[in-house]
Amino acid sequence: MQVTLRIKRFNPEKDKEPWWGEYKFAAEPTDRLLDALNYVKWYLDGSLTYRRSCAHGICGSDAMQINGSNRLACKVLLMNLGQKITIEPLRGYRVIKDLLVDMDAFLAKYRSVRPYLVTHTPDPEKERLQSPADREKFDDTTKCILCGACTSGCPSFWADGEYVGPAAIVNAHRFLFDSRDEGGEDRMQVLNTLDGVWRCRTIFNCVEACPREINVTRAIGEVKKALLYRKI
Ligand code: SF4
Ligand code: F3S
Ligand code: FES
Repeated sequence: MQVTLRIKRFNPEKDKEPWWGEYKFAAEPTDRLLDALNYVKWYLDGSLTYRRSCAHGICGSDAMQINGSNRLACKVLLMNLGQKITIEPLRGYRVIKDLLVDMDAFLAKYRSVRPYLVTHTPDPEKERLQSPADREKFDDTTKCILCGACTSGCPSFWADGEYVGPAAIVNAHRFLFDSRDEGGEDRMQVLNTLDGVWRCRTIFNCVEACPREINVTRAIGEVKKALLYRKI
């Protein structure tokens, strides 16, 4: 098939404004969009800049707006996108160059919720045991690959860049509901605030955006409920 990639380009060292680059070439319908971006970079314009690594939907590097929706470029087939494909950087993050956005603030928010197992009690003699039913409580939120698509798609985040955002809450959920964890109080300091979970207005864009099909809004709701009834 013939495809035209229409890519929003911007190099702050050279450009005053973003501009659209158009690249027309032949590709296989079963190629993924990442293959097409690589074709542009390797054969048509080596200056095109974007993140990618695993090419298999695992590392979370290549989230971008594809025909207006946040998706991973390595997980969408050209045949499902039409012949003219519009590609833009994720919304809400500073553009470093072309499709490459600055994730520093996003990752700082992730770190602020202490996304790791916290314990205060002395280590037991054997491992800390957990029942399958307790493990199930946070199974969905273990799937996050930190692609940033959910936070980028959230209108509450567009309105208030200080909002901790759905990705950080998902990763807090993963440990808050872990029966072995004892760090809930510290996480509450971050989440039980106006820029924490209460900034979420249950808009559901995050669910639509998540390439891992995590029910982000449900996870946020569970954290809100736990905070209200102090179950953490
Ligand atoms: Fe990406 Fe989903 Fe994790 Fe959000 S919750 S960062 S969309 S994987
Ligand atoms: Fe935003 Fe998702 Fe809440 S889109 S407002 S974080 S439900
Ligand atoms: Fe790793 Fe797409 S390149 S998720």
